[in-house]
Amino acid sequence: MKSPYSIPIRMRRLRRTDGIRSMLQETHLRAASLIAPIFVKDGLKEPEPVASMPEVYRYNPEQLIDHCRSLRDVGIQAVALFPCNPPELKDPFGSAALDSQGLIARAVGLLKKALPEMTIIVDVALDPFTSHGHDGVLKEDGMDVDNDRTVHVLAQMARMLADAGADWVAPSDMMDGRVAAIREVLDQNGHTEVSILSYSAKFNSAYYGPFRDAVGSQSAAGKNYLNKATYQLQPSNPREALRDALLDETEGADMLMVKPAGPYLDIITRLRERSDRPIAAYQVSGEYAQIHAAAMQGWLDLKRTRDESLMAIARSGADMILTYFAGNVAAELAKGSQISG
Ligand code: PBG
Repeated sequence: MKSPYSIPIRMRRLRRTDGIRSMLQETHLRAASLIAPIFVKDGLKEPEPVASMPEVYRYNPEQLIDHCRSLRDVGIQAVALFPCNPPELKDPFGSAALDSQGLIARAVGLLKKALPEMTIIVDVALDPFTSHGHDGVLKEDGMDVDNDRTVHVLAQMARMLADAGADWVAPSDMMDGRVAAIREVLDQNGHTEVSILSYSAKFNSAYYGPFRDAVGSQSAAGKNYLNKATYQLQPSNPREALRDALLDETEGADMLMVKPAGPYLDIITRLRERSDRPIAAYQVSGEYAQIHAAAMQGWLDLKRTRDESLMAIARSGADMILTYFAGNVAAELAKGSQISG
């Protein structure tokens, strides 16, 4: 039928078929850009499910190797390890964080041997080790985290993890000055090739809830709300977030991270414009859990919502995405499925 209207520019011409849409797709997910966060725990017979994170498990160091092999087989290049420690290992100082025979050090050693080509990222923060669940040691009055004493411990922790074989250390604590201190200690101890992936704009977010269950930092804090507002960023403050991230760049961070990802796409985009460093975005536990929870109710389509959430993060300008969906998405990409969001 001849149109009664003159519409010379018609956007729908470029959306007509699957083939055309696929050719014109502007943003792509690649397995090599996805980083799998993994929880590690000693003494497990079988991998242990994390209650608030469907399809996510805690692995003992041997099971971790098998899991990482299967990730490697679908193209995942990097994993980020998080320890889940029993309460008896925790104290107010997070002392076990410096144990060179501790869980993460052992896991890193085994993994490096089994899969030398895998990039191993380890978190540098004290929350899995402290009896109060905070990311650092507390001041005398117990009311707040002591910045400089914490930085001192974190730098030693980074060195110990680098000794164990970590490729990238990832300070996730948001203390002031830790990137410079870690760089200095690494360099003084022969670890000039170990990179720093700094959690440089990490917000004081409610979306970390399931993670705190997974590593047990919430149960360490007991019934008290674990308030990290004196070190993590206010969700309302984009300018402060950019300042903090750019400060990490001047202190020598090799890569910058924004966390959470989905609720902070504006920060990723603005940081992308201000920095030439690679940018990682962390789709955190709560972002993962909410998609699964709605899918379990039949309210959202799991795969489509997952793909759209990841596409949004990639589109915002992130080079790398830490996501609990990494393994599944990479497996689908390896089979040749299109991930288009
Ligand atoms: C703490 C840390 C947190 C996460 C990674 N490292 C949570 C927190 O600040 O309590 C969150 C990751 C997630 O929610 O998936 N050092």
